[in-house]
Amino acid sequence: MQAVILHGGQGTRLRPLTHTGPKQLIKIAGKPVSQWVLEQIRDAGIKDIIIILGDNNPNKVVEYYGEGSRFGVNVTYVYQGKARGLADAVYKVKDVITEDRFLVYLGDNIVPYDNLPSFLSFKGSASILLAKVDNPNRFGVAIIKDGKVIRLVEKPKEKISDSALVGVYAFTREIFEVIENLKPSWRGELEITDAIQGLIDRGREVEYKIIDGWWKDTGTPKDILEANSFLLDKYAERKIEGEVRESSIDGRVFIEKEALIENSTIRGPAYIGKGSKIINSYIGPFTSIGDNCVIEKGEIEYSVILDNVRVEGVSMMDSLIGNNSSVIKGKKWVKLIIGENSRVEI
Ligand code: TTP
Repeated sequence: MQAVILHGGQGTRLRPLTHTGPKQLIKIAGKPVSQWVLEQIRDAGIKDIIIILGDNNPNKVVEYYGEGSRFGVNVTYVYQGKARGLADAVYKVKDVITEDRFLVYLGDNIVPYDNLPSFLSFKGSASILLAKVDNPNRFGVAIIKDGKVIRLVEKPKEKISDSALVGVYAFTREIFEVIENLKPSWRGELEITDAIQGLIDRGREVEYKIIDGWWKDTGTPKDILEANSFLLDKYAERKIEGEVRESSIDGRVFIEKEALIENSTIRGPAYIGKGSKIINSYIGPFTSIGDNCVIEKGEIEYSVILDNVRVEGVSMMDSLIGNNSSVIKGKKWVKLIIGENSRVEI
């Protein structure tokens, strides 16, 4: 079977982080979000993966995943370009899907569902993964009757169902015929909910599975912090490959190669990337520090710090810091260079 990972979109809610690359490449707990997705698909036994590229620095995605051998899969790429909707993205793989069934997974969604093989053994024309939510008006929802999906509604105003689509779908090739006849929605996109509704309207059976527990669409900074805390909680192991001098490392802390921890305390679950230096500092639980960062006299908790970041003399929590940034305590005046849509609390 082939799997399709959607790696396009605009990522407007994650600006300015998405000014320089797609949101799916943001690293949390040591890996890009889409790598968590890719490895989950691989571990379910699917080795042929098609990545759909958008128009935001797609070369970075190709550089990172290459032909996939580093991850034990075969990766090929299809270019969507401008974000014209999930159904438009799915239609782009029409000529590269070689079997009747295939999996589609949004590359920014973390869905810790370990039963993908059973999800993929559907009999109808499609199958969707659902989760119960308290705020269905923020999602696409499915109305279920007698064990079948009878209708899909995007962001319903009234509470007609609490079963939200979580961004994992399985289709047969029939979906391409339906998408060919779709009209763009009010927001100008070809919607995947309309495509699945098209199958139902043709009298086809759409199956579903409901997942328990946590899942996340990492579309906003708050979502990234929550996904980081969830992934560290679930997967962090105590593994110290870097050098530790006169420091206290408590609990499940993963310190990558060539990292140096000196005169500091690190409390897990936490992740410290390759080549990073933590000096005279405290790193608290649910924190991921990227590669080649320098943290000096800093205190950081419940945060995601991406690569090549410098933090000096600052205490921070609930923070998300982009690649190549510096956060440095000044003597008296605050000196700031801040991108669009940023937030600073001092
Ligand atoms: P969204 O998060 O709905 O859209 P977006 O990425 O444009 O983000 P924002 O709303 O902040 O501007 O997209 C869901 C997933 O699907 C995400 O992984 C991006 C991907 N996607 C595509 O690959 N192509 C598309 O045309 C769209 C709309 C999304």
